[in-house]
Amino acid sequence: MREHTSMDSIESRVTDHTSLSHENDLMSLVFVGHVDHGKSTVLGRLMADTGSLPEGKLEQVKERCRRNSKPFEYAFLLDALKDEQAQGITIDTARCFFKTPMRDYLILDAPGHIEFLKNMVTGASRAEAALLVIDAEEGIQENSRRHGYLLSMLGIRQVAVVVNKMDLVDWSRDVFDQIERDYGLFLQEIGVKARAFVPVSGREGDNVADRSTRMSWYEGATVLELLDTFQTARPPEHRPFRMPVQAVYKFTARGDSRRIIAGTVEAGTLRSGDDVVFYPSGKRAQVKSMEAFGNGPALAGISAGQAAGFTLDQQIYVRRGEIAMKAGERPLVTSSRLRTHVFWLGRDSLCMEKEYWLKVCTSKVRARLVSVERVIDASTLEQEKRDAVARHEVAECIFELDRAISFDLAAESQATARFVIVDDYEIRGGGIIIEGLVDQTQTVREKVFMRNYKWERSMIPRESRVRKLGQRAALVLITGEKDTGKKPLAKELEQRLFEDGRMVYFLGIGNLLYGVDADIKFRSDNFREEHVRRLAEVAHLMLEAGVILIVTAVEVNQQDLRIMSAVLNGAELHTVWVGENITTDLPVDVHIAQKSDTIRSADELVTYLHQQDIIPTEPEA
Ligand code: GTP
Ligand code: MG
Repeated sequence: MREHTSMDSIESRVTDHTSLSHENDLMSLVFVGHVDHGKSTVLGRLMADTGSLPEGKLEQVKERCRRNSKPFEYAFLLDALKDEQAQGITIDTARCFFKTPMRDYLILDAPGHIEFLKNMVTGASRAEAALLVIDAEEGIQENSRRHGYLLSMLGIRQVAVVVNKMDLVDWSRDVFDQIERDYGLFLQEIGVKARAFVPVSGREGDNVADRSTRMSWYEGATVLELLDTFQTARPPEHRPFRMPVQAVYKFTARGDSRRIIAGTVEAGTLRSGDDVVFYPSGKRAQVKSMEAFGNGPALAGISAGQAAGFTLDQQIYVRRGEIAMKAGERPLVTSSRLRTHVFWLGRDSLCMEKEYWLKVCTSKVRARLVSVERVIDASTLEQEKRDAVARHEVAECIFELDRAISFDLAAESQATARFVIVDDYEIRGGGIIIEGLVDQTQTVREKVFMRNYKWERSMIPRESRVRKLGQRAALVLITGEKDTGKKPLAKELEQRLFEDGRMVYFLGIGNLLYGVDADIKFRSDNFREEHVRRLAEVAHLMLEAGVILIVTAVEVNQQDLRIMSAVLNGAELHTVWVGENITTDLPVDVHIAQKSDTIRSADELVTYLHQQDIIPTEPEA
């Protein structure tokens, strides 16, 4: 469930008694800290002493305690609110709305246990600032450090420390000073500067909403005063526009080839007439209309937090997983090698031998861990170089993806920099992208991006070509070791399809060598990548025209395929390996081990093309 939808519904329930004023900023804040250090108590106290609780709530909870002869606790107020919010579902984080004359607050009360960290990392709970609660008597505990570290990892830089239960240490300045020194040093090491350290007693109410008379040595702000010193992040509407594509809907009415690009806006605003660019493809068009879901009125624009869609002035083909941005704004980063901070939750360690799914916004891609730069013990900050990341460890890792994806860096924008790692349908970890590293296909990708950006589009939609030609464009790449009969097979297949009335063309890689590749043919340096890129560019043109293209080449490998896929913009590519031994790392769709019988092999490929729906299956007589 997305945060804003759940928030909206809770908000509407809360509005009755707190009457939030929407002209004010809303700041979201989280209370974190070790188990039982008093997070709920301090927050309950804050709500009670500022009159922010729903009418009658305090009395109701006190009365319930009396009836059960249980001493009243301010933390029970949070449980009461939580029960109210949960309505039958389990939620572990209570949300409180609260206001000062300056602005409104949404405060999350995090349980001290580890599950909450999962929500933080996976983005289920987002906060702009945090109050870290430390028990004065118990002192700094493991989670005091771990939570502090995660806050910094998640990019929450506004942190204040509440030293609670001062009543239990006789309001001692020495105890407070010692915690301030020790924890201050820790925060410094992780690059966080605490806004303040506040000595309080949640139970007694000292320095929460009201100034303590028992700690005259403290001259700083109360918790309440402190809140207003945090700065709200720039509202997401004012940041560069980002809308991950969730789905592309086609209008089905006859002759209508419009599509709605749908998704949820993560940041920024978009209006009709704006130019949008899709990443990583570089495809670009102008927004024609905004579409609201349901039968709502037409929208003039969409902005952060909204689930919406828009149509374009031209027919372009974008896919789920791409991110729409506004032309001229800060571009996204694209790469297939990511430097990340990961928080691992899986029972089994994150290791290099396995493949995982990595999800950033709506894109999902196969990923391998290629390096653990350092594992950081979140509570002691000790670093180690290792091969794997164990449960509940935080590490700086490099992942390699099957294909390049687009994203923002964590320093720029959180929502589009966050990822989760999925294995076996479960979220096993999450983190943020801190850098997009140079990868092998970068130069090719940059050329493709520009080509797409400048592409002059025909008025004939792709579907019309498919209908007219009775086939779907596809590249059939026939490869294998030398002299295994690839060319005879390709030519046989071409002839068969041609006689069947298909628009088909055979292209041996040698056909390019003296023409398209003439300028690089005799270069001695390694020009393989450039040869492959040009082959793919030629193929791309023919596929755009609707052709079934058959290409032969010797021993194509996975890297060649990556380049081709990048150039082909996701057009269909099918690999056929001829010969008994597959000698490269190429993923193969059809393996023809028996090389001698060209006719039978061609039969097999025709059947395959039918199965893939590239050529229509003949209706049965
Ligand atoms: P979890 O949600 O379980 O992580 O705990 P928490 O951090 O929310 O702690 P909670 O507010 O539930 O308080 C834990 C215990 O500490 C309760 O029994 C409180 O009464 C007690 N406590 C909280 N604040 C104070 C305080 O200022 N003084 C004293 N003496 N006890 C306190
Ligand atoms: Mg609690």
